[in-house]
Amino acid sequence: MNLDGKVALITGAARGIGAEIAKYLASLGAKIALVDILESEMKAKVAEISASGGTAECFICDVTDWDSVQRTVKDIVEKFGGLDILINNAGITRDNLVLRLTPTDWDIVLSVNLKGAFLLTKAAVRPMMKKKYGKIVNISSVIGLFGNPAQANYASSKAGLIGLTKSVAKEFAAKGIRCNAVAPGYIETEMTTNLPQKAIDQFLLSTPLGYSGKPKDVAAVVAFLCSSESDYITGEVIRVDGGMAM
Ligand SMILES: NC(=O)c1ccc[n+]([C@@H]2O[C@H](COP(=O)([O-])OP(=O)(O)OC[C@H]3O[C@@H](n4cnc5c(N)ncnc54)[C@H](O)[C@@H]3O)[C@@H](O)[C@H]2O)c1
Repeated sequence: MNLDGKVALITGAARGIGAEIAKYLASLGAKIALVDILESEMKAKVAEISASGGTAECFICDVTDWDSVQRTVKDIVEKFGGLDILINNAGITRDNLVLRLTPTDWDIVLSVNLKGAFLLTKAAVRPMMKKKYGKIVNISSVIGLFGNPAQANYASSKAGLIGLTKSVAKEFAAKGIRCNAVAPGYIETEMTTNLPQKAIDQFLLSTPLGYSGKPKDVAAVVAFLCSSESDYITGEVIRVDGGMAM
């Protein structure tokens, strides 16, 4: 796989899966625009990528804010001369049973996880259309496929991302833009370290491979979907879950 000269925007790139995707795509030759709200963490990732010979810049942006998203995409296109790849990875959880889930916790999760992906897509397709080529990868979740108690907001946002993926894939296929989703299972990151041990045990029990995934497992599949090797794939959802949702 080769991404030489491609420009890749990754949201939620300051840590976890997003940071690993940034490093992986940089190792394949892509110029990386890290987008997140955590400035110092992003700067550290930029330094890491640069130290290993890659090209990266960070851009502070709240993915829920349309003005900020538009400005960020404009800055990235000016800085790197275009945009070829968009990874909608920024995501949060606010878990609670429906009876206790507040409307605020519903709104914030839907806003970051789903509206954010819509806003970034809306801003990124224009520069991609200019090149008649683009790759969009949305990071969904197995929870969006099969639901989970205490995660109605998160599951809805991740299922929504699959609808967004398929709609964007159909709407922009004629413009050369491919849009796919990756649905990770239980991956070890800061998002999952604070889960109660009971929940972790339950995830592992329902994972046929019997162990948790690493951010690199997700990054490798994302890299494939960004490369020309996957040019005949669009509107697809690929699980990276050790068989959990099988
Ligand atoms: N870890 C897992 O097991 C797992 C499983 C399935 C799906 N996912 C999905 O993968 C993605 C990455 O998860 P992770 O485990 O690396 O989580 P993480 O919490 O480690 O990282 C999420 C990143 O998103 C950023 N972010 C949050 N709100 C933002 C906003 N408004 N604007 C910009 N950036 C924002 C955070 O600052 C953080 O850097 C998420 O979408 C998550 O839902 C994770």
